Amino acid sequence: MNILLIGSGGRESAFAYKISQSPLASQLFIAPGNAGTGAYGKNIDIKATDFEALGSFALEHHIELVVVGPEEPLVKGIHDFFLENEQLRNIPVIGPTAEGAQLEGSKDFSKQFMQRHGIPTAASRSFTKDTLEEGLQYLETRSLPIVLKADGLAAGKGVLICSDLSEAKAELRAMLAEAKFGQASNKVVIEDFLKGIELSVFVLTDGKDYKILPSAKDYKRIGEGDTGLNTGGMGSVSPVPFADAAFLSKVENQIIKPTIDGLRKDNIHYKGFIFIGLMNDNGNPSVVEYNVRMGDPETESVLIRIESDFVDLLLGVAEENLASKTFHVSEKTAATVMLVSGGYPGKYENGKVISGLENVKESLLFHAGTALINEEVQTAGGRVLAVTALKDNLLEALQQATADAGRIYFEGKNFRRDIGFDLINY
Ligand code: AMP
Ligand code: GLY
Repeated sequence: MNILLIGSGGRESAFAYKISQSPLASQLFIAPGNAGTGAYGKNIDIKATDFEALGSFALEHHIELVVVGPEEPLVKGIHDFFLENEQLRNIPVIGPTAEGAQLEGSKDFSKQFMQRHGIPTAASRSFTKDTLEEGLQYLETRSLPIVLKADGLAAGKGVLICSDLSEAKAELRAMLAEAKFGQASNKVVIEDFLKGIELSVFVLTDGKDYKILPSAKDYKRIGEGDTGLNTGGMGSVSPVPFADAAFLSKVENQIIKPTIDGLRKDNIHYKGFIFIGLMNDNGNPSVVEYNVRMGDPETESVLIRIESDFVDLLLGVAEENLASKTFHVSEKTAATVMLVSGGYPGKYENGKVISGLENVKESLLFHAGTALINEEVQTAGGRVLAVTALKDNLLEALQQATADAGRIYFEGKNFRRDIGFDLINY
């Protein structure tokens, strides 16, 4: 079958790699893709949010399955666009409709969803410009630190953790009255701070049944020892040593089942991935956030552990018979180290020539911010390449990925040498 994959990051490179391994895939197109995805299919120069062009392409190229990587086209309704068009309606789209995508697109929606369905999460209330004064009063009643979240998508920047009451008040004012995050902060969720250690759990659902994909931990800070600014993610490992069977069974019973049931009760036909950001506080899980897509760079570590045919699993979602599909996960450990541009997550330059890719023999390379220009692979983004190793244990995987990260060169290259090493003694 012909498959259209939408997106251009490391996550989509990992998707493209897995899809291309399936005997069920004939032609794979990636819109727009990057310098690495071309090895697994054909890149096409259409933006992820240009629904008209994607729809026309799908018809012309007899696409039978559309797989959506990033959240933006989902929140903007790519699935709805296909469903509402007579000719496109029968092409299955993996990823929720705009209504389901609200789980990520609106923090207020997702908090109400969790409260309605009894899913453990931090206590919270939402405020708008009109209720700013009440919000300021509410802040006085909570303990510190306190978390302020812009309701809408804010490119990963809309969450502030304030450890001081006057700072929290100033930030709430800036978000609501001065549109600090534009429209995204028209509404703000004030949420209690959760202690514990974070991890991500991923679920694939056809709306009735689900498969729990391997869990992962990502490393968000730019600096070693988890210091410095937040990034999109500097590395990941899967599995997560502190997510043992007892913890994961609580996650399934207290969070995953009520989430899938809740979507059904709310009449939201959800077909796709759910990424559940969790806090593990002494063995008890609570939800930090939902995303309606896979994580990046978690996907790079998660997908290579899936041994079953990935396209067959996606077909199970499309055809609503996911329960009948076999699903095997490797016992091995995957580690991903991200190479980033110098200056990222602040200002950085693109167009640096990347060399040494051929030096990497053991790890997989998933391109993220790369472009092929005059037959040269160049940097074209903050996060440039994911280096992923799959080994018998965590230490070997980390050593391999870290060593291979050192074998690639471009001016200003930066990466963390400590990804995952904090988990060795768990
Ligand atoms: P979110 O966009 O909701 O995932 O928030 C971004 C990051 O902020 C999360 O990955 C957490 O590290 C942190 N965070 C968000 N909410 C909370 C909370 N209630 N307690 C502690 N940390 C949080
Ligand atoms: N790595 C975090 C995310 O994809 O949102």
